Amino acid sequence: IKARTPVFFYSKYNGLLACKSPKAGSTLLGALVRALTRKSDNEVFDMFLLGRNEIHNGLNEVFGPMTAKVIKESALTVMVTRDPFSRLYSTFIDKYFLLGRLGREIATHLKRGFKEENEDYCGYDVTFQEFLDYVVYLAENMVEMNEHMVPVAQLCDVCNIKYDLVCRQENLTQGAEEVLRLTNNVTSSRLDAMRKSMTSKYASVFTLVSSHLFDYNNNRQDCPNKMIFMAKMWKTFAIQGLVNSGLDFPEHIFSQFSFVAREAHNITSAILQVTKSKPLSKVNRRLQRLKFLSEAYRDIRWQTIAKLQKVYYLDFLLFGYSKLPPTYYSER
Ligand SMILES: *[C@@H]1O[C@H](CO)[C@@H](O)[C@H](O)[C@H]1NC(C)=O
Ligand SMILES: *[C@@H]1O[C@H](CO)[C@@H](O)[C@H](O)[C@H]1NC(C)=O
Ligand SMILES: *[C@@H]1O[C@H](CO)[C@@H](O)[C@H](O)[C@H]1NC(C)=O
Repeated sequence: IKARTPVFFYSKYNGLLACKSPKAGSTLLGALVRALTRKSDNEVFDMFLLGRNEIHNGLNEVFGPMTAKVIKESALTVMVTRDPFSRLYSTFIDKYFLLGRLGREIATHLKRGFKEENEDYCGYDVTFQEFLDYVVYLAENMVEMNEHMVPVAQLCDVCNIKYDLVCRQENLTQGAEEVLRLTNNVTSSRLDAMRKSMTSKYASVFTLVSSHLFDYNNNRQDCPNKMIFMAKMWKTFAIQGLVNSGLDFPEHIFSQFSFVAREAHNITSAILQVTKSKPLSKVNRRLQRLKFLSEAYRDIRWQTIAKLQKVYYLDFLLFGYSKLPPTYYSER
């Protein structure tokens, strides 16, 4: 697959080198490395509030000719992997269902226009099936693939780099905890601050909200009606298990906002307030995510699945993921 070479988050002082693999926990790993490099413990929480547009801006990143040197210097080399099927769905929801450059690219490739909603339009008229076929097309034709779809095994060059720790996105809290346990030169007060920040629900919702605000404000012309965008965003939160899918989109709450970047805190608080009326237990959050994921794959052509099994062959093989799309069995 034609793709960029590996990129790492690096903290020299801690000897920690973490492979950057978008849509597989890299925002959290980036925040973790940055939090380690801050001067004061008081700056830690802010690192976990950075949207992915801010995390992935090149700071604390190493790539290209510098890589060999930092691999030699580092004391701990880590990466995060993820089930390819859930990673692809997550990329689709984030980059194609919502707004941005990638969605516009595929719509142009398929000669599609915008997705119509009643009298309005918002986003791109591309289905999940079409997105998956596009991924296969890029692989088969050696067209450069965006990092959000490149197999993690290739992104992190696992055949040439020896990793000390491989975490799973499915269990990232435990993985990040293990990274911290094995990292050198971390004071206990820094550890406490980081543990608290990493598990903050406020921080995880805020990070998403500010990323979506950023994308929205850069692509407003692709979705002139902000309420449609907010409703779509609400839907993605249900898909991600952040809000109960039984909660309708609270239009009256969102209509107060003009959806500019400085409202990110107030929007986050408003969302968390609404979710309190119908909280999700840990088990139900997992089930809700699985339900959306398995529904997304239910009608995907088997020919597409067979080709994806080839594209992501190494991810399935090396990280022990099932080569079949996830299925959800209703309890009823
Ligand atoms: C930890 O800090 C000391 C200096 O305080 C330094 O000599 C050492 O190389 C550091 N890093 C790592 C990975 O150990
Ligand atoms: C995540 O880690 C916990 C604690 O080790 C373990 O009990 C659980 O089975 C893991 N879950 C997954 C999905 O791997
Ligand atoms: C956020 O909410 C507070 C309290 O309701 C308000 O005073 C403030 O102006 C709001 N901030 C923005 C940016 O809307």
